[in-house]
Parts: sequence; structure tokens; C-alpha cells
Amino acid sequence: MSYRITLLPGDGIGPEVTKATVRVLEATGLEFDWVRHENLGAAAVEKYGVPLPEHVIDSIRSTRIALKGPVTTPVGKGFKSVNVTLRQKLDLYANVRPCKTLPGIKSAFKDVDLMIFRENTEGLYSGLESYDERHDIADSIARISKAGSQRIINFCFEYSRTHGYDKVTVVHKANILKLTSGMFLRLAQDRAVQYPELQFNDRIIDNMCMQLVVRPQDYNCIVTTNLFGDILSDLAAGLVGGLGVVAGANIGDDYAVFEAVHGSAPDIAGQNKANPTALIRSAEMMLRHLGESKAADALHDALVDIYTEGIYLTGDQGGTTSTDEFATQLATRVKALLN
Ligand code: NAI
Ligand code: MG
Repeated sequence: MSYRITLLPGDGIGPEVTKATVRVLEATGLEFDWVRHENLGAAAVEKYGVPLPEHVIDSIRSTRIALKGPVTTPVGKGFKSVNVTLRQKLDLYANVRPCKTLPGIKSAFKDVDLMIFRENTEGLYSGLESYDERHDIADSIARISKAGSQRIINFCFEYSRTHGYDKVTVVHKANILKLTSGMFLRLAQDRAVQYPELQFNDRIIDNMCMQLVVRPQDYNCIVTTNLFGDILSDLAAGLVGGLGVVAGANIGDDYAVFEAVHGSAPDIAGQNKANPTALIRSAEMMLRHLGESKAADALHDALVDIYTEGIYLTGDQGGTTSTDEFATQLATRVKALLN
């Protein structure tokens, strides 16, 4: 049997890290039937007139799973982010970011095991922006729904229970944003009653940032709204080695998109220098999602081996190994582990 998966390499370093990831996935011996769509973002605008063509969405609707590289988004102008559109169109409401120390990867802390659950479809990213030309005032509406909040909160609690975590923290700004953040907080507090085995608490976002950079080990699962989650998940990535090494997934009830959390890194694109670890760890999440835990464990263990040996490291980790060589080394170890 083979897994049909939509493959979106993206741009910048996207195609390089995607090639490396596919290579490592195929080293597991599992069969994949990749449905590739090369053009997204600026390349799609040029070819099809839109950054996220309908046939790409249809492809994910049919395969139900996608593996995606980064896509460049113009800042402050131009087309709407492909990522945001994809999440909204496929209703991928849970953005899941495991930020766990990987043995061998240099980081400021040891024993960090954070799972960030970010609401992915509404809040300040609802796309409800307007500009009042007469008064030169810009507005952005942070729309938060009860149903939208409830499902991400449920997702986090259920995940914590089924994955053996101890603690759930809801992050908010309910002291100021009494209706939006206040509702999110109340829904989480109500839900917590049904999980007496979990230690539950809440933190105000600014305090949470401070707590995380001082004592990240005190926290496990964190659930929060879109903007806070966006910022916290990058902060948490920084605690365990940076954006080049953490995984990310966007999950809904029907579809899931596994992606590199870093951007397209135009400064090193096309130079065979990028670290493919982030996308490879997202691929590990994808394998677990598919129920392929043996292959997922092999990917994980092979990465631990590479990083503890410390010989084949890419530039961002202080080495000189190329993206291709990193993939070759990793693929060899994955094969050996599964034999
Ligand atoms: P970035 O993540 O592309 O780069 C930040 C720094 O980290 C750069 O110095 C880059 O060289 C380095 N870096 C990133 N990934 C790396 C990797 N795998 N290996 C080695 N070094 C790596 O962030 P930036 O510069 O803010 O964004 C560039 C573009 O990417 C923007 O257009 C942005 O919108 C887009 N972007 C796309 C994302 C996505 O598609 N999921 C996520 C974040 C940004
Ligand atoms: Mg982000």
C-alpha cells in the first residue's frame, strides 16, 4: 500500500529541504505517491493569477494530507499569505508545535517539553481589516467565536490526556480584552473540570513570555488564540534550538498539513546550505498521524544520532554539511535502524 500525499515544496529553501525530507521518508521503506504542486505564492500568481490556486486546495481535499515547505509572503502589501488562506479554507483549526529539546542540539535549556496549541483560523488573523481614508485610521477585528475557541481547547486537553502530559496552561489577556480573551479563558476553565488528572492554570500573555524564557520546564501544553500562539510558538522554538529544528502541523477534522515552521530564508536559498531538520521533524509528526510509529521513531532516533555525533551539521548549527549530505547521512541511519 502507498500513501498519497500532496507535496508543496514552496519557494526559497523550500525545494531543497523538501527534497531532503522526501529522501529520508523514502528511506523508511514506506511507499509514497506524491502529488506535487510546485507553484505557490509569487510563482502561482505569475502562472495562474492567484497565490493559492484552487487545484492545490482540491488536491489536499483529495489526499487529505499535505507536506509543505515555506512560501515567501510579501510584507505590508501584495497577496494574502498562502499559509493563512490554506488554514482558513481547509479549516485547519489546530496549529500544533512541539518544542522539545532534542539531544545533541545546542539550546539554552535542557528538558524542555512544550506543546503549543494555537487557534489557527480566527482571532486577529480573521482578515477583517479596513482603512478609513477620511480619517486615516486602520482597523483590524479580532473575531473570536465560542465554537472556534471550544474546539482548539478540546483538542489541547484531549491531546494532553492521550499523550500523558501533566499540565495545561491557557494563555490570554482577559484583564484587558475582557470579551474575546475573556471568553477563551472561561471556556478553558470550564473544560478543565473534566480533566481532574491534569494540573490546569492560566497565564496572561506578557507574563507567560517572561515565565517561558526563565523557567520553560514548568510548562507542558499551552493553548491560546491565534496571535498569541504565533508569537509564543516562535519563542518556544528559540528555547530548543531555533526555527530550523522544530516541527509544525496544521490539523483540522478532515485534513492535515505538516510544514516547516521557518520561512523561505532568501539569504541562503539555492545554496544547498539549509537545515532540513524542521521539515523532517514535521514529517515525523506526519508519520505518527498516519499511524506509522515505527518509521517515525526511526526518523527521531536517527536525528538524535546525527546531532549527538555532531559531525554532520549544517551552517545554522555551526557545521559545514550541505543539505544533500545531511539527508544522505540521515537516510543511511534511518535504513540501518529499520533493518
Ligand atoms: P526565515 O525563517 O526565512 O529566516 C530567518 C533566518 O533563519 C534567516 O537568517 C535564515 O537564513 C534562517 N533560517 C531559516 N530557516 C532555516 C533553515 N532551515 N536552515 C538554516 N537557516 C534557516 O524568516 P524571515 O526572513 O522572517 O522570512 C522570509 C520569508 O519567509 C518571508 O517572506 C516570510 O513571509 C516567509 N515565511 C513563510 C513561512 C511559511 O511558509 N510557513 C513561515 C515564516 C516565514
Ligand atoms: Mg509564525
